[in-house]
Amino acid sequence: MSLFKGVIAKYRKYLPVSDETPIISLQEGSTPLIRARNIEKEFGFPFQLHVKYEGLNPTGSFKDRGMTVAISKAVEKKKAFVICASTGNTSASAAAYSARAGITALVVIPEGAIALGKLSQAMIHGARIVAIKGNFDDALKIVREICEKYPVELVNSINPFRIEGQKTAAFEIIDALGRAPDYHALPVGNAGNITAYWKGFKEYAAVRPVMLGFQAAKSAPIVDGHPIKNPETIATAIKIGNPASWEKALEARDESGGIIDKVTDDEILFAYRSLARLEGIFVEPASAAGIAGLIKYNKKSYFKDASKETIVTATLTGHGLKDPDRAIAESAQPPKVSAEINVVAEALGIK
Ligand code: F0G
Repeated sequence: MSLFKGVIAKYRKYLPVSDETPIISLQEGSTPLIRARNIEKEFGFPFQLHVKYEGLNPTGSFKDRGMTVAISKAVEKKKAFVICASTGNTSASAAAYSARAGITALVVIPEGAIALGKLSQAMIHGARIVAIKGNFDDALKIVREICEKYPVELVNSINPFRIEGQKTAAFEIIDALGRAPDYHALPVGNAGNITAYWKGFKEYAAVRPVMLGFQAAKSAPIVDGHPIKNPETIATAIKIGNPASWEKALEARDESGGIIDKVTDDEILFAYRSLARLEGIFVEPASAAGIAGLIKYNKKSYFKDASKETIVTATLTGHGLKDPDRAIAESAQPPKVSAEINVVAEALGIK
């Protein structure tokens, strides 16, 4: 028997559901918070680092926490269609939860910019997918307009039910630690997640963390202070030039006394490989932006007053299998040799 029944069952009194709400769940949430001692050691972190491995949600990303609430509410409202624009994970989650609810997910994606694993998910769950010649920001604009004209429910994070569900990750971190962390680091794309975490920390703890958000360097509208027309980054999940929750992200930063800054693709990929090689934790590139930010800020002595009593948490937003092409591109390719013990032993470097 499963010990957890999903985030709505677990945190029902904090969520906008009633007896009339049919709960559509894949038993998301209850993801592990893992101490990353090898990373601490390698980079000389003076603090404890605990990572919230959200890749272990049912569709492999944090989106499932918000999607269980958004889809449950859409079904309560008797909607037959939900719609989202996506860099991939939202569409994978919307497609899976819609399949379970027996409704149809409509998905608008930027052509050629979705990691393979995510696209395969939306396809196999039966979403109706359209790829546009444009980027995520163009796709989001179109789905917002569609929602004004047609009876479909928007399930991007502009939908407040998404934020409500996603805030449960902050609750789980506090439940696991027995208190809020001192700092919390995470990637920022459309800025729904930083908004949700900050809401969750505020609702669940009197003493809250300093929020540290990181955008990819060439997709960093919040840091640069203006929308980016043609955002670029290998971290396709956060390739966003005009985040929907921009103002809320600034609120999280300012109310917590935190930071929103940028990290380069090289820094993201270095953190991505480090998590995989030092901790055995496989994430998609965007997920490593928070860790890249911690490495950068530790070098700048930002944490000079921290000790091993200081707790830093970081969200690892999506699973590495979402983007297998990137993992292969970042690794040495296996040599092809003849099927002979001596040759194989030599190629393995043990002869
Ligand atoms: N990490 C991953 C793996 C994501 O998929 C996203 C967003 C983010 C970080 C950033 O979170 O947008 O709340 O600031 N992905 C969205 C999508 C945009 O369509 O799947 P955010």
